[in-house]
Amino acid sequence: MGRHLNRTPSGKRQPRKTTPRTRAKPDANPIPFHRPYIGSAEIKAVEAVIRSGWLTMGPKTEEFERAFAQYVHAEHAIAVNSCTAAMHLALLVAGVGKGDEVITTVNTFCATAEAIEYSGARPVLVDVEDDTLNLSPKAVAAKITERTRAIVPVDFAGHPCDYDAIRALAGRHKLHVLADAAHSLSAHYRGVPVGTLADSTSFSFYVTKPLATGEGGMVTTDSEEWAEALRVLRLHGMNRDAWKRYGNAMGWRYEVKVLGYKYNLTDVQAALGCAQLRRQERLRTRRSEIAALYRECFAGVEELQLPAERPEVRHAWHLFVIRARDRQGAGLRDRVIQALADRGIGASVHFIPLHYHPYYAARCRARPGAFPVAERAHEAAVSLPIYPGMRASEVRRVANTVKSALLHDA
Ligand SMILES: Cc1ncc(COP(=O)(O)O)c(C=O)c1O
Repeated sequence: MGRHLNRTPSGKRQPRKTTPRTRAKPDANPIPFHRPYIGSAEIKAVEAVIRSGWLTMGPKTEEFERAFAQYVHAEHAIAVNSCTAAMHLALLVAGVGKGDEVITTVNTFCATAEAIEYSGARPVLVDVEDDTLNLSPKAVAAKITERTRAIVPVDFAGHPCDYDAIRALAGRHKLHVLADAAHSLSAHYRGVPVGTLADSTSFSFYVTKPLATGEGGMVTTDSEEWAEALRVLRLHGMNRDAWKRYGNAMGWRYEVKVLGYKYNLTDVQAALGCAQLRRQERLRTRRSEIAALYRECFAGVEELQLPAERPEVRHAWHLFVIRARDRQGAGLRDRVIQALADRGIGASVHFIPLHYHPYYAARCRARPGAFPVAERAHEAAVSLPIYPGMRASEVRRVANTVKSALLHDA
């Protein structure tokens, strides 16, 4: 495994240091929290689009949509400029609006709840399950009212939610399931790729995500009707985009039938997307090798709770979130992050529970103590670097730094 991790995703060996005897100072080679994988295929693809003279949404975006739909086994894929936009539009086509309630997890990025707010509905937060930190179907069931219109499950860290339980609940109460798959491109649930497990699935191509175009997003659905509405809504509510009108004498004609948005992706981003999509399986394999190496390094460390991977899923390993506690059970998040920072290693925290933000505390009428599982996890959770370009030696250095921080437990 270590040998593989010293290779680039294209399989080429990375040059070895020429001075192996001189020991680098611990923080001489910083390990960032994330490094996007951009190779020559991405650079060539972007150059070709720039040279083509068509920069905005056009043929490359269509190609990306077709390839993406095929990769996740969905009927339709509609490219947009962020996952936030994807979720906003998914909520609109599902008919969610003012006066409605939408249930989602407290353990997510603010964008999930923000999209619900854009639709006019009120986000209703629920607690998570301790192993995956994904929303708890039991907690969802307890929050369903006659105003509930949809459930927005978030595949935290790349681990798919319990879709059987969520879909069963949705079916019983006639709710839509609108998945936030910002973390879970390449994940599977019971052998099915994330992308068709819900009525709509929204992906993020933000720079740290499994497929990165800088900014960008995609929404997939099997509904022809939703796909058509999503295409119209993402570009001003116009019935024909510029590419479809291009080269046609009467191309200036279009109609605006509904209030739309300026949410389209560009062909420059789509070129990056196509190149990154072709590497997805390889990139996921490398992240899963890193996850396995972390596991090996942390075996038997009692202070740590390692991320779960339930038997029915294939994890995307977008994040590797450990939970560190002292013997009394108190969270050691800040101590671990400080120790890593002292050695030049980047780390992060996913997520600050939504109700800890003043806006959502007020809007969701939730106080500290309302979501005990997510709150306890937050005290202890540290996201460690995990990206395809990481070497085995870097993974070991991160793990050793975490372990030595734990040894200083008073
Ligand atoms: C769980 C989750 N949902 C949604 C988003 C928003 O994605 P985007 O920046 O593409 O809008 C993020 C981004 O980090 C996220 O982590």
